[in-house]
Amino acid sequence: MSRFDDSAPQGATRPGMPRTNSAAPQRPTRPGMSRTASGMLIPGDAGKVVEVPVSGSSISDAAALMHNLSLSPSMKERRSSRNSFGTSLPIPRSPRQSRLGLKRPALSQDILASQVQDMSKEKVEAAKNMAFAFDIDGVLAHGTEPIQEARQALKMLNGDNELGIKIPYILLTNGGGKTEEARCKQLSEILEAPISTQQFIQSHTPMQALAEYYETVLVCGGEGYKVREVAETYGFKHVVHPKDIMAWDPTISPWGTFSEEDRADAKPRDFSKMKFDAILVFADSRDYATDFQIIIDLLLSDNGKLLTRAEDPENSGIPIYFSQGDFVFATAHKGPARLTQGAFRIAIEAQYKAATGVELERIVYGKPERATYTYADEVLKNWMEEIHNENRLPKNVYMIGDNPQSDIVGGNMYGWNTCLVRTGVYQGKEGENDTNNPANFGVFDHVMDAVKAAVRKELGHDFEFKWNPKVNPVLGTEGSSAVE
Ligand code: G3P
Ligand code: MG
Repeated sequence: MSRFDDSAPQGATRPGMPRTNSAAPQRPTRPGMSRTASGMLIPGDAGKVVEVPVSGSSISDAAALMHNLSLSPSMKERRSSRNSFGTSLPIPRSPRQSRLGLKRPALSQDILASQVQDMSKEKVEAAKNMAFAFDIDGVLAHGTEPIQEARQALKMLNGDNELGIKIPYILLTNGGGKTEEARCKQLSEILEAPISTQQFIQSHTPMQALAEYYETVLVCGGEGYKVREVAETYGFKHVVHPKDIMAWDPTISPWGTFSEEDRADAKPRDFSKMKFDAILVFADSRDYATDFQIIIDLLLSDNGKLLTRAEDPENSGIPIYFSQGDFVFATAHKGPARLTQGAFRIAIEAQYKAATGVELERIVYGKPERATYTYADEVLKNWMEEIHNENRLPKNVYMIGDNPQSDIVGGNMYGWNTCLVRTGVYQGKEGENDTNNPANFGVFDHVMDAVKAAVRKELGHDFEFKWNPKVNPVLGTEGSSAVE
């Protein structure tokens, strides 16, 4: 008999398992497989295997192990934070100044635009009194693939509009894993628009404030050793990457991966003598086995010393910070959204609870945390100064996001206008809004539709989303080429 020959009649189950309801519609099974009462596909009697009944429960223990604060916040069951209650999140007092410098000589279009703007003072004021905060993954791009409408939207906000004016915007992403400079360079290429570090916040950007408190940190996540450079740029004195520890003692992570390439850039030291002050997770792990193991080692250690175990880890462990809490995010994958840092954090929480019996105290930055939005205000103010010489906050801020559980709930709680787009995590149908965290300004097919709706609300329904190079400031518009 073929290994995959399904000789069992429909509805048959493993010995000792309840029989499925024969009246219920039967989903097809693969040869050699059968379904449990709940419909789960399991190996069946295929003739060449011996079946041994399970001795434990087939139901996951996750609920008992999961930190209750891992549940996503919603507008129905609001809480102000996904964090351990009572914890505060330090953010830098003022954003770092860009090293790139955006100042450039005025072009003839700028001169013409300033003449046009002189004739439309009210609209100009309204344009400077609105701003956008864009999420990246699922709004402007899918990984390194741009969303076409995003290029159009940024071009328009950068001055390709009837006033030739820059409408302020910042990028507010839960992504991370490389320096702000590197990410902005990459985004500028993808989006075909200059993105400055002065208008950019990634999940770990506000965490630079932690360098005031901790000297020796374990920094996890991201490609290669890029997060080492991030942490060093932020001012942390001694930055250790999990692969540095693997280079010192590969037995620390029995199932981890460690290549020759990893060894070339590793900085092994005698880690038995080092005392870690904190653990910082900056981005998605690329080696779950090693990161899980070393993080758990440090959480259970005696005051951050590897190779030790505390008698009372609750009181002698070191703090752990996650740069963001999203469970899933939008990528170039055609199916449902993919797991991200929140899933990794939940696994750490469960492991810690399984090891100690107590909940892990941890701190999560990123959207929807208030600290991230407070920092965004500072960045926006500085950006206003950069592009309009006015250090003030525009009154009407529009958050455009694809994830109701982070972008939208955070924007709603912060008093911003919120727009949900259908190009990412949220996949609701036409006319619907997210049930738990509805966007207060509406749901749109893509970013350009959201931007147009917001600009029309603030600057008038006849506002033209295209600069007309033939415009005559005295006689008005000639040969208008406004896009719809
Ligand atoms: O890992 C999640 C993160 O990439 C989501 O980014 O831009 O959608 O906030 P963003
Ligand atoms: Mg997103």
